[in-house]
Amino acid sequence: MEVLPTLIFIAVQLILLFLHPLQPAMSRPHNNFTDLESLLAFKASVADPHGLLATNWTANASFCSWNDVRCSHRRQRVVALKLADFSLGGSISPHIANLSFLSRLDLSNTTLTGPIPGAIGRLPRLALFNLSCNSLSGPIPLSIFNMSSLVKVSLGMNNLSGSLPSDTDHPFMLPRLQFMSLSKNHLTGSITPNFARCSQLLVLGLSYNNFGGSIPPELGNVTGLNILALGANQLSGTIPASIGKLSKLNVLDLGANYLQGAIPEELGNLLDVQYLGLAENSLTGSIPMALSNASKIHTLFLYVNNLTGSIPATLGVSWPRLEFLSIHTNQLTGRLDFINSLSNCRKLQYLGLSENKISDFLPDSLGNLSTSLNHLVLYRNYIKGRIPSTIGNLSGLISLGLWQNELTGEIPSEFSRLQGLQGLFLNRNRLRGYIPPELGLMTGLNALYLEENALSGTIPHSLGNIGGLQSLSLAANGLFSSIPDSLWSLSGLIELNLSGNALDGSLPRQMDNLKFFDKLDLSKNRFSGDISRVLGNLQMITYLDLSNNSFDGEIPSSLDRLVISIGYMNLSYNRISGTIPKSFTNLGKLYSLDLSFNKLQGPIPEGGVFSNSSIVSLEGNPALCGALKLGFSHCPPPSNSKSNLHLLKYILPPIVLVVLLLSCFCTRLIFRRWGKKLKLPSEDASLNTIRVVSYRELVRATNNFSEANLVGRGSFSSVFKAYLDDGLTTAVKVLNSENLSALRSFDAEYCILSKIRHRNLVRIISMCSNLDFKALVLQFMPNGSLE
Ligand SMILES: *[C@@H]1O[C@H](CO)[C@@H](O)[C@H](O)[C@H]1NC(C)=O
Ligand SMILES: *[C@@H]1O[C@H](CO)[C@@H](O)[C@H](O)[C@H]1NC(C)=O
Ligand SMILES: *[C@@H]1O[C@H](CO)[C@@H](O)[C@H](O)[C@H]1NC(C)=O
Ligand SMILES: *[C@@H]1O[C@H](CO)[C@@H](O)[C@H](O)[C@H]1NC(C)=O
Ligand SMILES: *[C@@H]1O[C@H](CO)[C@@H](O)[C@H](O)[C@H]1NC(C)=O
Ligand SMILES: *[C@@H]1O[C@H](CO)[C@@H](O)[C@H](O)[C@H]1NC(C)=O
Ligand SMILES: *[C@@H]1O[C@H](CO)[C@@H](O)[C@H](O)[C@H]1NC(C)=O
Ligand SMILES: *[C@@H]1O[C@H](CO)[C@@H](O)[C@H](O)[C@H]1NC(C)=O
Ligand SMILES: *[C@@H]1O[C@H](CO)[C@@H](O)[C@H](O)[C@H]1NC(C)=O
Ligand SMILES: *[C@@H]1O[C@H](CO)[C@@H](O)[C@H](O)[C@H]1NC(C)=O
Ligand SMILES: *[C@@H]1O[C@H](CO)[C@@H](O)[C@H](O)[C@H]1NC(C)=O
Ligand SMILES: *[C@@H]1O[C@H](CO)[C@@H](O)[C@H](O)[C@H]1NC(C)=O
Repeated sequence: MEVLPTLIFIAVQLILLFLHPLQPAMSRPHNNFTDLESLLAFKASVADPHGLLATNWTANASFCSWNDVRCSHRRQRVVALKLADFSLGGSISPHIANLSFLSRLDLSNTTLTGPIPGAIGRLPRLALFNLSCNSLSGPIPLSIFNMSSLVKVSLGMNNLSGSLPSDTDHPFMLPRLQFMSLSKNHLTGSITPNFARCSQLLVLGLSYNNFGGSIPPELGNVTGLNILALGANQLSGTIPASIGKLSKLNVLDLGANYLQGAIPEELGNLLDVQYLGLAENSLTGSIPMALSNASKIHTLFLYVNNLTGSIPATLGVSWPRLEFLSIHTNQLTGRLDFINSLSNCRKLQYLGLSENKISDFLPDSLGNLSTSLNHLVLYRNYIKGRIPSTIGNLSGLISLGLWQNELTGEIPSEFSRLQGLQGLFLNRNRLRGYIPPELGLMTGLNALYLEENALSGTIPHSLGNIGGLQSLSLAANGLFSSIPDSLWSLSGLIELNLSGNALDGSLPRQMDNLKFFDKLDLSKNRFSGDISRVLGNLQMITYLDLSNNSFDGEIPSSLDRLVISIGYMNLSYNRISGTIPKSFTNLGKLYSLDLSFNKLQGPIPEGGVFSNSSIVSLEGNPALCGALKLGFSHCPPPSNSKSNLHLLKYILPPIVLVVLLLSCFCTRLIFRRWGKKLKLPSEDASLNTIRVVSYRELVRATNNFSEANLVGRGSFSSVFKAYLDDGLTTAVKVLNSENLSALRSFDAEYCILSKIRHRNLVRIISMCSNLDFKALVLQFMPNGSLE
């Protein structure tokens, strides 16, 4: 049976040999034997590891009955070949170009490698040409650009390089072309104005390549265009005003390029535009008022540019479908009165204006914004005045970022109505008064940041009712009295910062939740009591600051129960006595240890942190000895003589003690003053932000989800190590990684970065999601398992 195909093949060859001398090369008889030969040649050049073709594409039946081969009825010629989503492997045989009746060729997602055969340009009837989602390399053959039959071309998500034919050397004609996607390749050169000759073109997707040069104004002649996606390239120059002629445009994505100049007024003529992405460029000038007329707009991304002026007050008046508006990281000034207009956007989910220079009062009409608003992000501006109590109407809020503004007045108790709020960031403002006990009713809260305000009074007991609270920062306020016991019953709390208040009292014996703390900062308060109570309970901590308090007692000798994960530990300026346990040398992740100005004594352990004077500070403990490198003196040699021992035991200590106490007291006075001026390592600001991060940033951060960044792959997700633009190293967990390649080329992608954490201790920095792509950005744990 197996010899049959071979026989047919030989027969075909013989016939061809026979015919060849009689026929000029160009007019060979392309009959169904040619089709058979071509299909067999195609079969031979793919790897077909699962034998998908081996058992079916056999010559004992007409090739018209083969899987995924479609023939014309009358002539029994191959008209379509659709093998999408098969794991074929191997390369594409040039013989495929002999299927002269072929009109649809779909080999998308079939793990093909190698070049695209230039011979394909000979196929006179090819209309649909889809090789997307493979690993094809090399240039796109020139011949393809002169195929008058082509309607849809999809070569996206490959490894194609080279440039497009230039308009002068190789003008091309694709008169019937409607769809062209070359996105996610490594194409270079400029975007040829040749596309302007494709008068039927509806979709042009060139995003995620390395195209340079400027956007050809001629594109404005392709007036039927629905989608123009040129994002994530290296395009420079200005946005041509002629783009405004593309009145049928639904999607315009020019984001993540190097575009300069102003946003042309003419874009206001794009009345059908739904997605307008100009983010991550260097655009200047103001936001054109004319954009207000784009009444179908769903997403407007202008973030990370250098836009100036004020936001037009009419923006949003006629934008009933708006869901995402992000203008963060620009130079915008002026008023917030456009918020009145935005109340017409009843579907608004995301409003991001952070990192601008807006200096205005929050209008009461803030409360008129849509109840579907999930994220309101206004941090790092100069917004002043009170937080309007109408904010309690925004019942859909998940995160509210108002930090680093100039807000005054009290925290409105109406916040308690925001039952779905997970992150409340009011830190770094000038808020006064008490922390309203009503905040305890916000039972959905994960993160509450009120630090660096002028709040006073006590910490409300009710905060202990927020069962899901994971991060609480009340640092640098004027809070006093003791920590309510209820806080120590919050089993999910993993970050607590109460530094820089006037809190006092000793910590209770029951602090079970301390075991799970990641970060604890109680520095610069008046806490007292036995330090071993705190230290004995910690297990997973990475950052501990108890400095500048009145803790006493000894450091427990068994630090091994404590956290091998600790990186930063500051116990300075307390009254801690006893010796430094040897187990400190086992804390391999410790990058900063400050035990200075306590009452520690005895030999300093050798090795570990103590061998690096730049990360350890022990001064102000005059009874310590050893570690000459750190400036301490030799420890008295252990003596054998009984008399010496007696001397040491009974005579020396009182003398030393008196001397020590005196010197300690003096230095303490001096250094306490000086120490106050020292800046403690500031809160990791990057963790403290809520912002939109683009899918592109994740692509950059993971080096295009490269294998090199792959940390682990499970059945439902893959985890990549990612270096975000702000320097943060994170882990990105991509759910359903197969869908990665299913991304639409123009990707109206958005990710909401917010500080949300997960109960099981892996810190979730962000959740990122769009139609095709779901990812979590997690705290990176170098050796840890993320599952
Ligand atoms: C065709 O031949 C192959 C073996 O070469 C055999 O497995 C298959 O069943 C045959 N198919 C038909 C329809 O006869
Ligand atoms: C190939 O598969 C199709 C559909 O599964 C079937 O109809 C056809 O007979 C098969 N051909 C051969 C040669 O096995
Ligand atoms: C080739 O075409 C002839 C008719 O022109 C038909 O009889 C024959 O079955 C076809 N062969 C195949 C493999 O389709
Ligand atoms: C690619 O094919 C595989 C099966 O081989 C499938 O699971 C995956 O969903 C396909 N990807 C796309 C983008 O269609
Ligand atoms: C089929 O294609 C190959 C490669 O392009 C070519 O060498 C061969 O001559 C073609 N055969 C026919 C019959 O056209
Ligand atoms: C090409 O194939 C991909 C993957 O199967 C599919 O998503 C896309 O819609 C196809 N393109 C065209 C133009 O048919
Ligand atoms: C992509 O193509 C380049 C050469 O153009 C090659 O070095 C590289 O290995 C290819 N990458 C993949 C994933 O095929
Ligand atoms: C397309 O055909 C024209 C006319 O034959 C030729 O001048 C041009 O160079 C061809 N373009 C490409 C890209 O091959
Ligand atoms: C195409 O656009 C350019 C620049 O926008 C213009 O100068 C030219 O006349 C247009 N060509 C056609 C055929 O409309
Ligand atoms: C905005 O302008 C400043 C100063 O000219 C420059 O440093 C910065 O990179 C620009 N930002 C963008 C996004 O272009
Ligand atoms: C919006 O459209 C109306 C009517 O088409 C026009 O009169 C008005 O000038 C446009 N507004 C702006 C700001 O361009
Ligand atoms: C918006 O809010 C203001 C102040 O809260 C109120 O007076 C006004 O009626 C509201 N407007 C709309 C359209 O809801």
